[in-house]
Amino acid sequence: MGLSTRLNSILKMIDGQYDHIWDCCCDHGYLGQAILQAKPEAKVHFLDVVESITSKLEKHLASNNYSTERWQVHCEDLQRLRLPHPENVTNIQHRHLLIIAGVGGDLTLDMVQAVLQNNLDCHIDFLICPVRQLHKVRSGVKALGLGLVNEKIVKDGGRYYEAIHLSTLSEDDIPVVGGSMWDLAKGDHQEYLRQNISHYQRMQAQGNENARNILAEYMSLQELSA
Ligand SMILES: C[S@@+](CC[C@H](N)C(=O)[O-])C[C@H]1O[C@@H](n2cnc3c(N)ncnc32)[C@H](O)[C@@H]1O
Repeated sequence: MGLSTRLNSILKMIDGQYDHIWDCCCDHGYLGQAILQAKPEAKVHFLDVVESITSKLEKHLASNNYSTERWQVHCEDLQRLRLPHPENVTNIQHRHLLIIAGVGGDLTLDMVQAVLQNNLDCHIDFLICPVRQLHKVRSGVKALGLGLVNEKIVKDGGRYYEAIHLSTLSEDDIPVVGGSMWDLAKGDHQEYLRQNISHYQRMQAQGNENARNILAEYMSLQELSA
């Protein structure tokens, strides 16, 4: 099974010791299966809201040789998820990494917010890779009190994505237009920045009130690199 460049980049960004890694909105479950191989210390959870997807995936995983203690399939709305607590253990927190990739920015933000609200007593890391609306997602997760761990620009199939690792335990600022992910010596990064600038120039021309400020933030990245 060959992972796409996008999913492979997300896999490579999983850094740290996690007891539970969640392939949320897993669909085909390719990412979770690669994590099963790459992270033998973690239990991998495959979660999707569509029953036909999860039942097919469960059969597929059961026909492979992984111990059933290493994985679990959940047919559930991520916005209702309650993370499991360790049994018979006090004062020890299980570490959870929730990966949310391949869904739109609005839904990604709603999901992160709901997971935090429904699991107030947990330390949670998120690795998100939304489709579009990156500025809105970044502003939103920042307002939710999350901190940055790592961020990368990923180009796959001629399209750009941002993979963003966040944590309830991090106090590092989340730059709303991205920070350390940019290497403007690279042609791809220059192209991605130009795409963002053109997008907000069009929004501004259409009379969008917020576009001016967002555009200025992206333009300042360009000026920094000049
Ligand atoms: C385009 S697929 C993404 C697959 C994979 N994560 C990727 O990045 O390639 C989106 C999946 O999100 C699932 N989904 C949408 N809303 C959901 C929700 N509220 N809870 C759980 N899964 C959801 C859909 O059923 C679908 O399988």
